[in-house]
Order: sequence, then structure tokens, then C-alpha cells
Amino acid sequence: MISLKDIAFKYRSEEAYALDHISISFNAGEWTSIIGHNGSGKSTLVKIIMGIIEDYEGEIYVGNELLTEKNKQRLRRKFAIVFQNPDNQFVGATVEDDVAFGLENLGLEREEMIARTEHALGLVNMLEFRSHEPHRLSGGQKQRVAIAGALALQPEVLILDEATSMLDPAGRNEVLSILWNLHEQLDTTILYITHDLTEIDHSDKVIVMNDGSIVGEGTVEEIYRDKEMLARSSLKVPYTVEISNALLDGSFVTHDELVVRLL
Ligand SMILES: Nc1ncnc2c1ncn2[C@@H]1O[C@H](COP(=O)(O)OP(=O)(O)OP(=O)(O)O)[C@@H](O)[C@H]1O
Ligand SMILES: [Mg+2]
Repeated sequence: MISLKDIAFKYRSEEAYALDHISISFNAGEWTSIIGHNGSGKSTLVKIIMGIIEDYEGEIYVGNELLTEKNKQRLRRKFAIVFQNPDNQFVGATVEDDVAFGLENLGLEREEMIARTEHALGLVNMLEFRSHEPHRLSGGQKQRVAIAGALALQPEVLILDEATSMLDPAGRNEVLSILWNLHEQLDTTILYITHDLTEIDHSDKVIVMNDGSIVGEGTVEEIYRDKEMLARSSLKVPYTVEISNALLDGSFVTHDELVVRLL
């Protein structure tokens, strides 16, 4: 779906690369998690994909098309993003206005805008809050509205940059379970950026970043098994994975499976 070839970027010429010539692909329909500690380059990568940073080295392919000056607007319409801070992403006075507002540049008929807004709010279980003021919602509800705003654009790739990191545990679980359901129902390609390894269990693929480079790539199990690489990247294996390793002769289980096995 998206392939990055030899992407490099520095914020200032005298500094080290924030992204140091990285190549990766994100497959259509898959949930890819990108993990890495603070400053490892995750958001820089997202900014390059979204066109917020334009003076990068290297090539981006969307499908089989090389992204160029000419086609970038059309190709980037396939992507939608949800950011970290639930309070910085609202412009509308009500939840439904806010979701509809994002559609205004698309030149849709009014009926189509209403239909898409309702459908997207339904997907994140927020339809009953349609006439509420966004700033009065809980953090988790705000992020669900932000996800609805992104889904209303009918993207092929949904990108979430630390979208749960400012939420309390309840809000985080709320948002994660909605995303897992969406991924199963809609086949949307998901690019999930986090520094919290307890959130990656449902990923098809995990990419580990450290100091602007990719230092690991594999299934959740493969990533958890490579403890040295995780330690070098200042990432910690979740407690539940440590427990399952100790209790189950080192055989790997996800968090959900561990709960079932221990019952
Ligand atoms: N606007 C900026 N100007 C200068 N340097 C920046 C800027 N944004 C990020 N950097 C630097 O680029 C590197 C990568 O930062 P980036 O924000 O991509 O990391 P990240 O993995 O998203 O971190 P976090 O987990 O804190 O969100 C860091 O060294 C950071 O200090
Ligand atoms: Mg970041």
C-alpha cells in the first residue's frame, strides 16, 4: 500500500538525521505498529508520509505509483491521520459539525456529507453524542470523534500517531477496542504509532525504530522474543509477556490469551 525507499531527513543541516535512510512497506489491509522511544523518529516519518515535511530525501510509493509534486494531492487523499492530543483536533461546535467540517473540501453533496458523518459516528459508537459540544466529552470520546472525522474521509490508510497516549486507561481501552473492531470489519490499512508495547498485540506487523533507523521488523511474537534489540532500543517487554514466558515454558501468548489461560 505504501512503500518508503531510502527516506532521510534532518531538521537542521548540522544535526544528525532524524530519519536515517529507512526503507519499509506497509501492506494493504494490515495493522502495522511502529514502536520506538521518545525522539526515535516516528512522528517525523508520519509527517513525511502526510506531506507536512516535504524536503525529504528518498521515494514514497503509494500502490505502485511514485509520489510526485503532480500526483501528491490525489495520492495523499488515501491517507487520514489522528494525532495525539484530543483537544487540538476540533473545529466544529458540535460533534457532527466537526466530522462534517473535514469533508468540506471534498465537494460532496449535502446528503452525502450527512450520510458519511452519521456512518462514521456509528462506527465509533458516538452517534448518540452527535449534537454534543466536543470539548465536553471525555478524552476517549474525543479521540473516537477524531477517528470518525478521519473515517468519514474514507481513507485507505488510517494513521494514528500516539492517539491513546494522553488518555486514561479506560479511554485508551475504549479507543483501542474500537480500532481493533474497525480493522476487522473494514479491512482498513492501519499504521499505529506508539511507544507502549502493551498496545501492539493485534498487529500483523511491528516495526521498531531507534535513533532514526529501523532496528527491528516482524510479528509481535518475533519482536517480543528479541529482548536484546528491545533493550538496546530502550523498550520494555510488557509485564504480561514476562509472566507468560515464566509460566508457560517460554511459549508466547498475547495478553488476551494469557488471561484466558490463567482463568
Ligand atoms: N520541529 C523539530 N525541529 C527540530 N528537531 C525536531 C523537530 N521535531 C522533532 N525533532 C527531532 O527529531 C528527532 C525525531 O523526533 P520525532 O518527533 O520524530 O520522534 P518520535 O519518535 O515521534 O518521538 P515521541 O515518542 O516523543 O513522539 C528527535 O531527535 C527530535 O528532537
Ligand atoms: Mg511522536
